[in-house]
This record gives sequence, C-alpha cells and structure tokens, in this order.
Amino acid sequence: MANLKVRVDSPKVRYSEDFIEAEYEYRTISVTEENENDRDTYTMTPMSTKLLIRTMMKVPKLGLMLVGWGGNNGSTMTAALLANKLKLSWETKEGLKTANWYGSLTQASTVKLGRKIKGEDVYVPISSMLPMLNPDDIEIDGWDISDVNLAEAMTRAKVLDVNLQVQLRPYMTQMQPRKSIYYPDFIASNQGKRANNIIMGTKAEQLNLIRNDITQFKTAKSLDQVIVLWTANTERFSEIITGVNDTADNLLKSIEEDHSEISPSTMFAVAAALEGCTYINGSPQNTFVPGALELAKKQKSFVGGDDFKSGQTKLKSVLMDFLVSAGIKPVSIVSYNHLGNNDGYNLSAPQQFRSKEISKSNVVDDMVESNKILYKPGEKPDHCIVIKYVPYVGDSKRAMDEYTSEIMLGGHNTIVIHNTCEDSLLATPIILDLVILAELCSRITFKKADTDDGEEFSGFHSILSILSYLCKAPLVPHGTPVINALFRQRAAIENILRACLSLPPENNMLLEHKVD
Ligand code: NAI
Repeated sequence: MANLKVRVDSPKVRYSEDFIEAEYEYRTISVTEENENDRDTYTMTPMSTKLLIRTMMKVPKLGLMLVGWGGNNGSTMTAALLANKLKLSWETKEGLKTANWYGSLTQASTVKLGRKIKGEDVYVPISSMLPMLNPDDIEIDGWDISDVNLAEAMTRAKVLDVNLQVQLRPYMTQMQPRKSIYYPDFIASNQGKRANNIIMGTKAEQLNLIRNDITQFKTAKSLDQVIVLWTANTERFSEIITGVNDTADNLLKSIEEDHSEISPSTMFAVAAALEGCTYINGSPQNTFVPGALELAKKQKSFVGGDDFKSGQTKLKSVLMDFLVSAGIKPVSIVSYNHLGNNDGYNLSAPQQFRSKEISKSNVVDDMVESNKILYKPGEKPDHCIVIKYVPYVGDSKRAMDEYTSEIMLGGHNTIVIHNTCEDSLLATPIILDLVILAELCSRITFKKADTDDGEEFSGFHSILSILSYLCKAPLVPHGTPVINALFRQRAAIENILRACLSLPPENNMLLEHKVD
C-alpha cells in the first residue's frame, strides 16, 4: 500500500491496496426568492446527498509535454524539476540557495488537519493528504517552434542565477524540443524569426505527427499517462464559426479540410483528446472552441485552463474579495504592466494583447455580482488594463495597480500597489500544481451512496473547474458559476480533498475556544 502520511480513523473511510473509499455527506442549500409587498424574501432548504468517493491509490508514471518548451516558462519548469530532483544548491551574492517549490500549492502550502488533544494545531503539506504525484517522478518533453536546446533556452530566458544554470547545463543540453505547428496568423509577427523548428504538411498530417510524438514519448519512457500543457505564446482569439469548430465532428472535418481558422493550440487540444491525454491551456486565447470541448468529453479526457494566474491577477482576486466582502465599493481598478520577456514582445501586438485583456478583465465579476448593496444590477467598476513591452526589465514584470473605492458617507479610499512579479518563477509552480491536481482528479470517482449496487462510479466533468485557483479565466462547464475569488477557489480544492477522506469542510469556527 502507498506510504500515506495522513490516515483517517473512521468507519466511514476504508483503505485498501487499490482505493481509499470515503462515505461523504455533501450538504448544500437550495434557495427560493420571492418578492412580496416590494420586499425580497428568501427560503433556504438544506439539502444533503450521500456520496461514496473513491481515490485510486496507484499514482501513474506521468509524462508532461509542454507546448512552448523552449520558452521562459518551459525552460524554467524543466530547470525546477531537475534542480529539485537533484537537490541542487548554488552560491549567490545573498548566500547559498537550495532548490525548492515555493509558490506551489501542493508542495509548499499546508492544510490544517485539526488539533492535538492537548496542544497546538497540526498542519501538513497538501500533498500528504492523498496519494499524489511526486514532482521528482515527472518525465518532461515537448515542442517548440524554436529549435534551441533547453540549456540555451534557459540562458535566453535570463530567469535563473548563473551558478544554478551552470549546474543544470549538462542535463538540459541534451533536451531538444520537437518540431511544432506554426501558423503565423495566430501569434505576433515579431515571433517569425524564432520559428525555425516547424512541422510542414497539411493540418491532418500535422495532427498525426503530434499524436505520434505523444505515443512515442509514452512508449520510450514507459509512461502510464501523458499531460499536454500549452505554455507557448498567446494567440489571437479564434472565430467560432458554425460548421467549422462548433462541434467535435466539424472540428475534425475542418482539420481534414485544412481550414485556416483552426489555431495551433486547438490542434494540440485535438491531438491530446484523441490520445486520451489531459490538456491544459496556460494562455488566454480561446483554445477550447466548442468543438474541442465536445471532443474532450467524447474521448473522456480532461481539459483545464485558461491562462496561468500568477502575479497581478492573483493579487487582484484577493484584494477585490477583501474590499467587496468588507462592504467597501471599488469603483475604479487600473492595472499597468510592463515586461521585457518574449511573452511581452508577443503581447505588444494588438490582437494578442486583446486576448490577454479579455482574460484579465473578468476576474472581478463574481465578487461584484455577490453584493447587491454596493452594485446595482449590471453596474461594474471601471477596469482598465495596460501592457507595455520594455525589454530592459526582462522577465521581472512590473505590475502597478490602483484601486479606488467609495467608503462611508462619500469618502474615498485609494490603494496603490507595485508588484515585481518575476513572471516565470511565479508561473512554474503553478504549472506543477496544474499537472499534479489534474492527475489526481483523474483518479477520483463518485457514486451516490444510496442507489442500487449496479450503478457505476463516475469521474469529474471533463472540464476540471477545480483548477480555477490556478487560472486567470477559469474554464467551467456550461452553466456553472465562475469563481474568481482566490480563497473560495482554494477552499474548493482543500474541501474536495477533505471529502475524499470523509472529513467535513474546514469551518474555522473554533467553538471550543469561544463557548464557556
Ligand atoms: P515565452 O515567449 O518565453 O515562451 C513561449 C514559447 O512558445 C517560445 O519559446 C516560442 O518559441 C514557443 N511557441 C510559440 N508558438 C508555438 C507553437 N505553435 N508551438 C510550439 N511552441 C510555440 O513566454 P512565457 O513567458 O514562457 O509564457 C508562455 C505563455 O504563458 C504566454 O502565452 C503567457 O501569456 C502565458 N502566461 C505566462 C505567465 C507568467 O507569469 N509567466 C502568466 C500567465 C500566462
């Protein structure tokens, strides 16, 4: 049996060689709203569903294939996996540094288990709650339209200390990105000079080559599962065209017919779905056109996205939550960014900037809509986003935000923030978490406890909205609320993991200390 650090001593949790099986009572509240004599009244009905939740014990041998492997994120992710696996340390002007996964929810943050009978609260790393992938065991590979090896890509990125780069170089020189799909129309024209590692042929031929790459990697490394993750340049949005990309069949037909409105990122989504691989989109564009989502569902594969939530937006989704839930009314949010890495260069083109602007714009909506005292229906704060390319600052993106809020009796409160993001060092642990959580989700299944024995366990929806915490523009199943508030997103992850162990949601009531 897997060497679990956390075990629950309860008749509702059964451990076997193959599964952890938990009986769980999922409690929700159904609300009806009525308007009587011009007064809204609400009736709340507590509801409860008894579930059996199974978590498969065996963690698969996993391969990660990055699209955009030779970029800043791709090379930093590769370096971080190696540096942690090899337990590297390196000298800097501030002293000796050792490899870590700071910034990773699964590797560097903790959850409270409870209290010792006499004494303090007990916290453990999130990764010790359920059997989870160890980053040291991940095999990495990928594609890039630029042919430089990963050691050169790391140097080009200018993210890591030189003394760390020197130690990683021998491992990373041997890593060579596979040829990729390049349609110049989708990313900025300034990327053209990078594109020297390209698959030629028709879209159908390109799709087959990508699928072959996945199977070849899987066989060569004896992998059980492959996750494909897009961390290549931001593309322009694709048009959604009836008959072209609106259904799975139309999308496959359009690839056969070499239709020009299928983006490279959607081509990878199709390849991943057809190979039964989870596909995650770390950029803002609408990779997941309706046809790609339908295909993933049909193939019973998972998808997640969009756009890593690393610096400015993460802070925004905390600050807005704080302000609105404190009863303060933000009326203007202005966000300036300047950055000098290749991502910034690509985003300096209008259509690619527009993808990012859309992705960054909606991140306050759920918080605004939650408070009818502050905002009338349809009312929103002014929200302006500016991104400028300034080569000198490289990967150290500057994000400057001004939040102006209305406070009591006509007053104003203005908060100004300056955030130096070190973009790729914030994004890399998020990539790791996306992979670890997506893999875990593929091993968790649910069944209603009080139905006939014949009923099968079913898994998560093919759109993994549990990954919202890690994404700026969370992809959720049609008709599902989008949650942007960071701590609600985190609580969802923590409480679902707790449910897998038949533990109630963390309630923070501490009644034992509050009642005489
Ligand atoms: P980068 O520009 O350094 O890397 C992107 C790589 O993708 C380049 O090596 C490029 O050659 C390659 N590429 C472009 N089109 C390709 C294709 N069709 N197939 C294969 N490779 C292709 O950018 P960086 O900083 O690594 O960011 C990657 C993506 O992640 C960008 O879209 C960015 O907007 C997104 N992102 C990054 C965040 C961060 O904090 N670093 C946060 C949120 C999103």
